[in-house]
Amino acid sequence: MKKGLIPFAAFAAALTGFARAEDFQGSTHPLEYDAAPIRYSTTEPADAVAALTQRIQSGEVKLHWDDTFGYLPGLLDALHVPRSSQMLVFSKTSLQRTYINPKNPRSVYFNDDIYIGYVPGAPVMEVSTVDPKLGAIFYTLDQEKLRKPKFTRSADCLQCHGGLRSLGVPGHILRSVPTDLSGELESRDEISDIDQCTPLADRWAGWFVTGQHGAQTHRGNLIGSEDFARQLREPNWRGNLVDLHAFFDPAKTLASGSDIVALMVLEHQAHMHNYITRLNFDAQQMLAMYGHIRYLKPQTDAFLRYLLFTEEAPLTAPIGGSPAFIRDFTATGPRDRLGRSLRDLDLRTRLFKYPCSYLILNPAFDALPAPIRDSILTRLHAILTGQDQDPQFAKLAADDRRAILEILRETKPSLPAVWRAEN
Ligand code: HEC
Repeated sequence: MKKGLIPFAAFAAALTGFARAEDFQGSTHPLEYDAAPIRYSTTEPADAVAALTQRIQSGEVKLHWDDTFGYLPGLLDALHVPRSSQMLVFSKTSLQRTYINPKNPRSVYFNDDIYIGYVPGAPVMEVSTVDPKLGAIFYTLDQEKLRKPKFTRSADCLQCHGGLRSLGVPGHILRSVPTDLSGELESRDEISDIDQCTPLADRWAGWFVTGQHGAQTHRGNLIGSEDFARQLREPNWRGNLVDLHAFFDPAKTLASGSDIVALMVLEHQAHMHNYITRLNFDAQQMLAMYGHIRYLKPQTDAFLRYLLFTEEAPLTAPIGGSPAFIRDFTATGPRDRLGRSLRDLDLRTRLFKYPCSYLILNPAFDALPAPIRDSILTRLHAILTGQDQDPQFAKLAADDRRAILEILRETKPSLPAVWRAEN
């Protein structure tokens, strides 16, 4: 044990030496999450699919089968995932790649804890959930009518979802990759790990996008090199689309469109979930090895910057998305006495009205090991009250700090004692 300690401590100390904004402070290396103390693959998840499986087995729930979409509508309803969250991706970048192309795009749906992938005609549905302790858990569901359909937890998914593209932990992936006419990757000009910091101009190659974004450009709806070449001459010739009828038979998708606001929220959320998992696993390992989390200072700084959107790509024109998604997304989650919620959207100069992630209220945040959770919340309090003037957070305006402080005080149970003081 002693032997292993020296290089690890040296490595951890090295991490504190550089704090780069764009990565997780060197922490994208895959973590050994199958070993103790995490034991990812051998631990039974306590997630939404485990709960649904029980209800299907007991006969309490019968998953509805639809002759066109199979289990898709039934599953969305059973797991409370709104249809309005539909986004469409046509790049052959995921598991059932042979079925995916611009005329047969893959649909992705999500809520705070569940992500669902559906490809018309493909043999399985793909589901990932957020287990508060284990991070993302991956399942397939056969698209075959059965009395009691079964979810299968699958290790194959980790080939893509368990490494460098998701902060080295089991997590969610978002890429922007130009394709040819068939959806096959065409150029090396790709951006992996899309999140809230990625400029809009670099986002959504390989995806369909509906909604308004003014003169801001993006790479969605461009299929094949000629489309990309034309985009250089005529920015946004495929931008600000209302529908996608020109591209594929709309009967292929359950809802209409591939909503720009849903995409932006997903990009914030997927990476926030990955960060939470990464910090959880890092903290568990540190605690097991050293009994403290002091070496994680750069990681918690990076986490707080992401949580508080300090490096978010600014909007230069208003974004107009599907009213149904905005309604469904903002309807859930608590509001304070003034009616404010961390889910309120701005969509004029930034994504959210109050720049602090609503996932701070998620069970996965609360399941962080207590020392790291409390240190984040205590530091957050100091930042929001202005006691901590760290320039990393200088972008946060005084009235935003005040609003977030007030909203959290009223909507987040079990804050550390320092939050209860007057300021
Ligand atoms: C070949 C790599 C690959 C494999 C294997 C893979 N995925 Fe994915 N998955 C992706 C990529 C890339 C995305 C991002 C969207 C896209 O490009 O289609 C994604 C997106 C998803 C999403 C939407 C949420 C997110 O992470 O963006 C779900 C749900 C999902 N995958 C489930 C699964 C499940 C379940 C399995 C295993 C049964 C699986 N995937 C296997 C590459 C893969």
